[in-house]
Amino acid sequence: MAELKFSNLTKRFDGIPALDGIDATIGSGEFVALLGPSGCGKTTLLRLTAGFEQPDEGEIHLGGDTVAGASRFVPPEAREIGIVFQSYALWPHKSVSGNVSYPLEVRRIPRKEREARVAEALELTGLRDFADRMPSQLSGGQRQRVALARCLVFEPRAVLLDEPLANLDLALRSSMQDVFSMFHRRTGATMLYVTHDQSEALALADRVAVMEAGRIRQFAAPEVLYREPADCFVAGFVGDGAVVPARLTGRSAPGRVLLSVLGQEVWCRSATATPSHVSIRPEAITLSDDAKLRSRITGCTYLGGRFRLVLDAGGEALVAFAHRRAAIGETVGVSIADPWAFCDPDADTLMVQALTRA
Ligand SMILES: Nc1ncnc2c1ncn2[C@@H]1O[C@H](COP(=O)(O)OP(=O)(O)OP(=O)(O)O)[C@@H](O)[C@H]1O
Ligand SMILES: [Mg+2]
Repeated sequence: MAELKFSNLTKRFDGIPALDGIDATIGSGEFVALLGPSGCGKTTLLRLTAGFEQPDEGEIHLGGDTVAGASRFVPPEAREIGIVFQSYALWPHKSVSGNVSYPLEVRRIPRKEREARVAEALELTGLRDFADRMPSQLSGGQRQRVALARCLVFEPRAVLLDEPLANLDLALRSSMQDVFSMFHRRTGATMLYVTHDQSEALALADRVAVMEAGRIRQFAAPEVLYREPADCFVAGFVGDGAVVPARLTGRSAPGRVLLSVLGQEVWCRSATATPSHVSIRPEAITLSDDAKLRSRITGCTYLGGRFRLVLDAGGEALVAFAHRRAAIGETVGVSIADPWAFCDPDADTLMVQALTRA
């Protein structure tokens, strides 16, 4: 398995950048998710990595080799990268074992070794009893496992997955997530996993690169993205909660700053002395009758085990959790504890509101 590195990677279509100076390193054996809204450049980054497209600027390095750059382009078949697509892309006229065996046939692996490796890959993906079936006789989840086995069998240097579970229903998705985790643990593969489903990204990946408009906004462990978002986009896109503007009061302490948030003075966690916004997760909000900040309940949905409330606090939409159903229109007091504050002077307030109200 190999380290994958992007340096100033740029790709334009008709002069418009789909990738705009991507710098990132994915460690050998690391599981990284690319998360971002439709059109942000996720598939383009995978296609460049696989060698289906050439960059306009910048370089891609795999295991220390330059595979794409100004003076070098290694074709897809020579990159030894495995790819799993949303559409499975199986050979319809080959059986399950025929599909899985194919990459080894292309590499002229002797028959005996081929059979042993195919059997191992089928075992690992739970497909042993399906070896002789045709793809048309399989469910979506089983087909995706064949695609995974086919990719695993030739021991690629990295595995790229483009929304591999998007075609599957919710229950099957979560069981397939377990299959991917197990696959990663057993193979130690370097994996780059594209999704626009944040719960999938947060559940599966060691680190998540949050993309927007061809750039990486933040590249960090899931819990860091959630607890310490770098800007309004990440705070609104990853995890639940609200993003609201804040004003400096002039008081601070190491790692903390006292801000005026919705008219209340609140001590916030922060890495900067001059934050402009706070990310308020539902856990940071306590509802109580005597809290000074008043809000009106505008939404209440049952999540199983608890309710998700949307509150209007002076025109800002907050999200809180409650154990009891609440009546729409009711007024409640809100106290905010320990939110994360960051500086994002370019934030477009309307964009933030749209994201947090969704
Ligand atoms: N071959 C192409 N020709 C012209 N524009 C393209 C081409 N491929 C991608 N684009 C544009 O590049 C941008 C990024 O596309 P990309 O497919 O990488 O997005 P994505 O993040 O994978 O989105 P989705 O979540 O919808 O799959 C989009 O604006 C898209 O329209
Ligand atoms: Mg895509």
